[in-house]
Amino acid sequence: MTLAIGIESTAHTFGVAVVDGDGKKVLSNVIKAFKTEEGEGGMIPSKVADHHVDVCQEALSEALKNAGVKASQADLVAFSQGPGIGHCLRVGAGVARSLSLALKKPLVGVNHCIAHLEVCRFLTHSRDPVLLYASGANTQVIAYEAGKYRVFGETLDIGVGNFIDGFARALGLGFPGGPKIESLAKEGKRLIKLPYSVKGMDVSLGGLSTNLKTKIKSGEYSKEDLCFSVQETVFAMLVEVAERAMAHTGKNELVLGGGVACNKRLQEMCKVMCEERGAEVFFLENQFYVDNAAMIAITGLEMYKAGARTLVEKSEIRPSERTDDVSVSWR
Ligand code: ATP
Ligand code: FE2
Repeated sequence: MTLAIGIESTAHTFGVAVVDGDGKKVLSNVIKAFKTEEGEGGMIPSKVADHHVDVCQEALSEALKNAGVKASQADLVAFSQGPGIGHCLRVGAGVARSLSLALKKPLVGVNHCIAHLEVCRFLTHSRDPVLLYASGANTQVIAYEAGKYRVFGETLDIGVGNFIDGFARALGLGFPGGPKIESLAKEGKRLIKLPYSVKGMDVSLGGLSTNLKTKIKSGEYSKEDLCFSVQETVFAMLVEVAERAMAHTGKNELVLGGGVACNKRLQEMCKVMCEERGAEVFFLENQFYVDNAAMIAITGLEMYKAGARTLVEKSEIRPSERTDDVSVSWR
């Protein structure tokens, strides 16, 4: 059994997971998400970091207990090294370094975006998928090509989750907006014409956001119709760029990642697109879509097996690490 402890702390979530690399099993996946009291969703980096400090010990004990293992049984400690919010990354990195030194086990620094793809390869039989990564801050289409994970398309302005949360706030729905929009959209009856902005492999959401604020103010449209139309329009944009990346790279597998991937309508649209082009789409449980430490442990395991080690003195956090900065030794 090769056991990895994974630690995630790029943004609002502090997570600890234990993964068995040989049995290909996630033994535990503890997720502690920072929430603002008013449910407003504003994130002050130092406050989120304080939250992570408060919960880190509890998260670690819970993860070990749920997995039924002792920390000393771990073969490695993997942590999210970047990209993310510096204050938050620093907490996870600190915990990981301490564990690695105390246990005398190697440390492996992991790229968070790549981990969203690797968890899909580990938990499903997808081998070389295109990843549609749709989270709060990130909207990217990522795939492996010529030795690296590359970004084939991305948002030119805001991430789709942040866009959805902003729209929900404008409707007075609170944070996080995604699940509320999804349930209201089911009652929508009319498709309202909205700006559709795909530019090559990229999408842009800023103009749509402004357009929606004007529409909400006018009072002419029902919440349900607006939510329905937003989902249909924005998800069509995402599915279009994902499909273009599949066509361009010749890959016939699609996986999803990020909190927005929890949306059933987005999943359905991906399924239809893949069926139409004879490709396969793989879905995971929601706990592996939102930010989580299981994906960090899994990627750390793959890297560890390929010989990757991160020396403590070289384990600095990388808040703005790009997906294609990482040389991929494990594929
Ligand atoms: P990043 O991973 O880029 O740092 P993040 O930490 O904000 O961003 P996640 O935890 O992956 O992202 O996802 C949070 C986002 O997912 C929120 O914007 C939330 O509204 C959205 N979301 C959650 N559930 C749904 C849903 N059912 N439909 C649409 N969006 C959803
Ligand atoms: Fe993420």
